[in-house]
Amino acid sequence: MSVVDHLSTNPADVSDVVWCGPMADADAFVAAARAARAAQPGWAATPAPRRGRAIQQIGRIVEANKESLARLVTREIGKPYPEALGEVQEIVDTCDFFLGEGRRLYGQTVPSEMPDKQLFTFRVPVGVAAIITAGNFPVAVPSWYLVPALLCGNAVVWKPADYTPALGQALGALFQAGGLPDGVLSVVQADGPTTFAGLERALDEGLVDKVGFTGSSAVGREIGALCGRHLQSPCLELGGKNPMVVTADADLDLAVEGALFGGFGTAGQRCTSLGTAIVHEDVYDDFLARLTRAVETAPIGDPMAKDVLYGPMIDEKFLQHFVDNHLKLIADHHAVSGSTGVGRVTADNPRAGFVGDFERGLYVHPTIVAGVGIDDELANTETFGPLVGVARYGSFDEAIAFANGHGYGLSSAIYTNNPTSALRFRERVSAGMVSVNNSTSGAEAHLPFGGNGKSGNGSRQSGVWVLDQFTRWQSMNWDYAGKLQKAQMDVDDVDADLDFRLED
Ligand code: UN1
Repeated sequence: MSVVDHLSTNPADVSDVVWCGPMADADAFVAAARAARAAQPGWAATPAPRRGRAIQQIGRIVEANKESLARLVTREIGKPYPEALGEVQEIVDTCDFFLGEGRRLYGQTVPSEMPDKQLFTFRVPVGVAAIITAGNFPVAVPSWYLVPALLCGNAVVWKPADYTPALGQALGALFQAGGLPDGVLSVVQADGPTTFAGLERALDEGLVDKVGFTGSSAVGREIGALCGRHLQSPCLELGGKNPMVVTADADLDLAVEGALFGGFGTAGQRCTSLGTAIVHEDVYDDFLARLTRAVETAPIGDPMAKDVLYGPMIDEKFLQHFVDNHLKLIADHHAVSGSTGVGRVTADNPRAGFVGDFERGLYVHPTIVAGVGIDDELANTETFGPLVGVARYGSFDEAIAFANGHGYGLSSAIYTNNPTSALRFRERVSAGMVSVNNSTSGAEAHLPFGGNGKSGNGSRQSGVWVLDQFTRWQSMNWDYAGKLQKAQMDVDDVDADLDFRLED
């Protein structure tokens, strides 16, 4: 099964090896799907309240391991520890929401158009779900798939990001401890191309009924095409270029706080990270000055240190991509601020006030790029790093054109004290999620999460909405008339005098 040993290192101290182990090949992926296929009917036959009980136990076990799992999140991807604790809490919240769903999972009783006949609907598990997730939310986002998929009676093959294998193994073990039968959840540690090849074969062999993918729009397109060929609609949660509009009457301090957390939290490596702050011309200079001051003085560095805004880039490949591609989008007409340098933090390119030892880790400077225009590549590209664009607008129409122009549609925010602006923005922005006087990041775990356009295929995760991803509606009609009653044909009509008119 194994091919080569794979290493995962701590991005805050690359000499710290977090995981070393074999990576699976495509055969192993197919074998896991086959095991899932064999285990799924038994799991589906387990009463839903008992499946809910397993989810409850998983939530309790994760909660009891909250600090150690959060420490591992910080160690394997460099997310600041308080954020890592929040990430683990999101798994607990998701379990809390879905444990009760085991006692609901409602269907309907529906009246028939004929006597002695009753109609019903049932939610039926889809079957085997293949879940492929990114490593920026290495445990919370997988739980958004795993928890409802399992609760609904599906078996799951989960492929964590190849740069978070230790977290994949840890979360898998925590779920297993919750009492899942063998084969119902398998964790496959594999790289992207191997996973794609394994998935293709598993789909060809009819072993996978649903794919969930969180990652880039480019890979999402490939997965969508593959699933489409098998007449399946995957659940796709892709990138974003999330706008934040700041109106002339906004509370600027609040907006700056939102831009700081939304743009630079997790070093800008969230799918909900702020892309461009679109600021009314009357407050543009003031906003930019305040944001620059806040970013210049923000503590950046050791993710275990207190009050650090962000730690290292998650992985070497993200750092390289950010430096080689995204920083190159800064053009001559832009004005850069926010730090004592641009790019990787090194001895020759230091960050004033850096917390800890930058030489051990993969750190980059925060970068504010002002003067972004609607046609700039920077306005239209997800940069996935600590870079925030700032653009100026005059009319509300201009702000909306900027907010939607890039074709992504995941998250968005407006800072305003005018309710009309907030409601108009909600109506016209193309994003699936809208914050008012709150940052683009930080969705609560029980609202629909998902995007439009380049951000996804319209699927939604979380809350009751995700149930439609992991179940299919089955309708049943039951006729007890003792004779064949034909729908639409053997239906009694209602006598009415359609010529009736009131006398004037
Ligand atoms: C992601 O980056 O894929 O709302 C998910 C947020 C987080 C989830 C982000 N709770 O920013």
